Amino acid sequence: METIEKTQTAITDSELSEQIKAATKDSHVRAENTELMLSYQRGNVSLRQYQLLLCSLYKIYEALEEALDRNASHDAVAPIYFPQELARLESIEKDLKHFYGQNWKEKITVPAATLRYAQRLREVGRDHPEYLVAHAYTRYLGDLSGGQVLGRITQKSLGLKNGEGLSFFSFPGVSSPNLFKQLYRSRMNSIELTETQRNGVLQEAVTAFELNIQVFNELQDSVSCVSETENEMRQRHTQHKQNTTTTAGDEALQSSSSLMPRFLRTLLGVSVVLAVGMVYAF
Ligand code: HEM
Repeated sequence: METIEKTQTAITDSELSEQIKAATKDSHVRAENTELMLSYQRGNVSLRQYQLLLCSLYKIYEALEEALDRNASHDAVAPIYFPQELARLESIEKDLKHFYGQNWKEKITVPAATLRYAQRLREVGRDHPEYLVAHAYTRYLGDLSGGQVLGRITQKSLGLKNGEGLSFFSFPGVSSPNLFKQLYRSRMNSIELTETQRNGVLQEAVTAFELNIQVFNELQDSVSCVSETENEMRQRHTQHKQNTTTTAGDEALQSSSSLMPRFLRTLLGVSVVLAVGMVYAF
């Protein structure tokens, strides 16, 4: 109880950029530990994972940037409105065109969690523009932080050349991500908020992380589901081939080989190699 009070006092004493970081600390850890982000950290992201991520990001940034544009002159939005430096929608479009071709719009998949996220962004833009800072912070500062590492991993894992398909990670208008983040934080701190609004922003930032986590989990589930189905199909295909092509003799050979212990099979293999070697030697 005392610790909670101490933490809350510490949070209310500091500026918005520090408060928001403290309020979302645990959520950040949870986001980093989603299966999708763990595959990234292991350095093995698949093309399918990346394509699906881009599809979701398209819908998310479409809603976020529409809400920011519409509220650009709002007192709580103007200080953190940086379309030249940060806007991602066109970059994502470019990447989607690269992977899906000209008619990419007809091909993209938009799962339920992504729709929920986009819907929340529209609600916030309409009913609580002062909360937009929480969403802009979560996405853009994330993109300029761990996101930069994710870009390098995507490039390496998928062997993408000349930045093709990687525009999302590239911020040509930001020469130093660290300096830009400092500027962004100071702009966040200049926003005037009542106590209630400030608490609302902090709560909304936690929600923003949660919405991201749900998007990642749903994406990962669909990828795992597809690969499981693929495996099952592959297994069925192999079984079918075996059933249709094996002769009685083959069957005997197969059953004997599956019954024979592994070390005996290895020993037999080594003997055959030695025997063949000796025939060639002499
Ligand atoms: C593999 C996953 C991730 C890694 C390795 C990672 C890593 C990092 C690191 C090292 C920082 C600190 C940068 C600094 O202090 O300047 C950071 C900051 C941040 N990350 Fe992540 N991150 C990951 C995922 C995410 C996700 C999924 C989100 C949100 C959707 C996110 C949002 C943020 C935000 C908003 C910040 C700025 C914190 C602040 O300075 O207030 N990160 N991340």
